Amino acid sequence: MTCTVLVGGGWGDEGKGKCITYLCYNDKPSIIARAGVGPNAGHSVEFRGDKYGLRLTPSGFFHEDARLLIGAGVLVDPEVFLHEMEYLSKYSVAERTGVDYRCAIIERKHKEQDQSSSYLSKKIGSTGTGCGPANADRVMRTAKLAREVSELEDFLTDVPLEVNEALDEGEDVFVEGSQGFGLSLYYGTYPYVTSKDTTASTAAADVGIGPTRVDEVIAVFKSYITRVGEGPFPTEISQEEAEELGLEEYGTVTGRRRRIGLFDMEMARESCMINGATQIAVTCVDRLYPQCERVREYSDLSAEVKRFIEEIESETGVPVTIISTGPSLEDTIDLRDELL
Ligand code: GTP
Ligand code: IMP
Ligand code: MG
Repeated sequence: MTCTVLVGGGWGDEGKGKCITYLCYNDKPSIIARAGVGPNAGHSVEFRGDKYGLRLTPSGFFHEDARLLIGAGVLVDPEVFLHEMEYLSKYSVAERTGVDYRCAIIERKHKEQDQSSSYLSKKIGSTGTGCGPANADRVMRTAKLAREVSELEDFLTDVPLEVNEALDEGEDVFVEGSQGFGLSLYYGTYPYVTSKDTTASTAAADVGIGPTRVDEVIAVFKSYITRVGEGPFPTEISQEEAEELGLEEYGTVTGRRRRIGLFDMEMARESCMINGATQIAVTCVDRLYPQCERVREYSDLSAEVKRFIEEIESETGVPVTIISTGPSLEDTIDLRDELL
């Protein structure tokens, strides 16, 4: 029985989608539970040529035997949720997804408030998906809950009960966080953050798992950093420098161009400490070091890449167990056996 929580170590978009797909497809947990803020997230997942952009559905859905759950801490936009249930029908997602009856609901007014507030949409650079205003209503205790929305009736469940019973029965549970450490309402670059804490403890609370039940916390870092929206970014480089390195990216949800920067050891250290990380996944290594594109064995990495990985380990004190060298599942170096 293993309870694993995966979180973003940067400002989101670390490639969590790819890591979750790899880990869930290989480890086949009984339950994959989505934590995090809500549909402000955009996860890209790719499996055997099929590519999807997801905002609410757990990214591990390619593992077809898993029960998929959305925890009570996550905001649900019924329009986005029901669209994804249809969009992913090839994988029978609607038949195995449950939404906690206590999830707060994003209504049209929340999206309008998010988009029309120049403070949120311009100064903070929010995604416009209504998450901030919906969480504000939740704090004011005026938000509507999933149990009041008739379109969600067939999906309602008690997520903590399902998850804790699965753990009691010795099954594996995988919890996926969204956003990243730098966007945490508590520990990020306030006020340029999202509307909630994004660290592993909150991810566990989002799905109703107590801290004593969590076995592994995986923090995901990209080999460089990206940030969408406003706010400080100590290792940022100019667009010209980023283009010279061949790095240009656009957001999955908003289509905005992402700001690019170099790996930030200090941020990685703090992120690992506050998340209580037990393992690190490093993604998009091939984009920074093209010579290691699609490499699948650690021994085949260049000396430069090995030095980079070793530096991350020595600076954070946490082992790097997953190295991603390309978008598809096969392009993954899995060092977890070496931990045993
Ligand atoms: P999260 O928001 O953290 O889930 O990240 P994401 O999955 O949304 O990341 P993003 O939107 O930045 O998308 C990453 C893109 O890069 C997707 O198309 C992935 O398939 C792809 N990708 C993920 N890992 C790697 C990798 O190691 N190398 C390369 N070249 N591409 C990757
Ligand atoms: P909000 O979460 O839409 O309120 O946006 C607040 C800040 O968090 C903005 O800078 C967004 O760009 C950023 N943000 C929210 N969700 C994500 C995400 O999934 N990836 C990257 N940035 C995000
Ligand atoms: Mg993303």
